[in-house]
Amino acid sequence: MIGSDELAELRLELEQQRRLAESKEQQLERYAADLREVFKAERARAEELSESYVATVRALTNAVEVRDAYTGKHAERVAAYGLEITTRIDPDLAAEPQTEFGFLLHDVGKVAIPDGILHKPYPLSEEEERLMRRHVLIGWEILSGIPFLEQAATIVRSHHERWDGLGYPDGLKGEEIPLAARAFAVADALDAITTSRPYRPAASLAEARMSICAAAGTQFDPRVVQALDSTPDAILERLRSGLG
Ligand SMILES: [Fe+2]
Repeated sequence: MIGSDELAELRLELEQQRRLAESKEQQLERYAADLREVFKAERARAEELSESYVATVRALTNAVEVRDAYTGKHAERVAAYGLEITTRIDPDLAAEPQTEFGFLLHDVGKVAIPDGILHKPYPLSEEEERLMRRHVLIGWEILSGIPFLEQAATIVRSHHERWDGLGYPDGLKGEEIPLAARAFAVADALDAITTSRPYRPAASLAEARMSICAAAGTQFDPRVVQALDSTPDAILERLRSGLG
């Protein structure tokens, strides 16, 4: 038999435990609320940071484009083509903001190329060509010091490499070339061929596809050419007109 004193003591103890549990629960709720606030603030900060990166990248891209007037919105078109092609090979890589940044900023190094060379119609002299080719390393130098743009910098550095190893600046071959740079090279060719220049009219999409296919395995990664092949004309046309 439990005496009434013992019963009262037990009740008291139970009540104390209940209060303790209640206060622990409240404390946990407070922690959870604090954490939610911290996460919310962190997310807002990350978004702000990423928006400021996008704005900076766009500003830099425009700085290059205004000097290269005849190519119009080349960087944006080529980035759109490049992302479409990359998505068909490696969707995760395409979703990384740095991939788009690298595409948009591929020619940022041209800010250091004198107007006389930048605007001169081909062919360039050997010395002019040597200077022009420096834009990949200059671009890489500009970006590689910026945190969060290291991968974009490697795309900028490698965007004129060729699958057969005959490109520049490092003469990388095959899969030594970062995949994003291999995809970019095809996108760049597609845009160059289908855009009119002072010395030649724009070619059709079909003609562009043919000349790019002909360079699969030499200038371009065959897998990337295949990815372009599997992209319908309608998608490319939509990207070109900026509706993509
Ligand atoms: Fe370039």
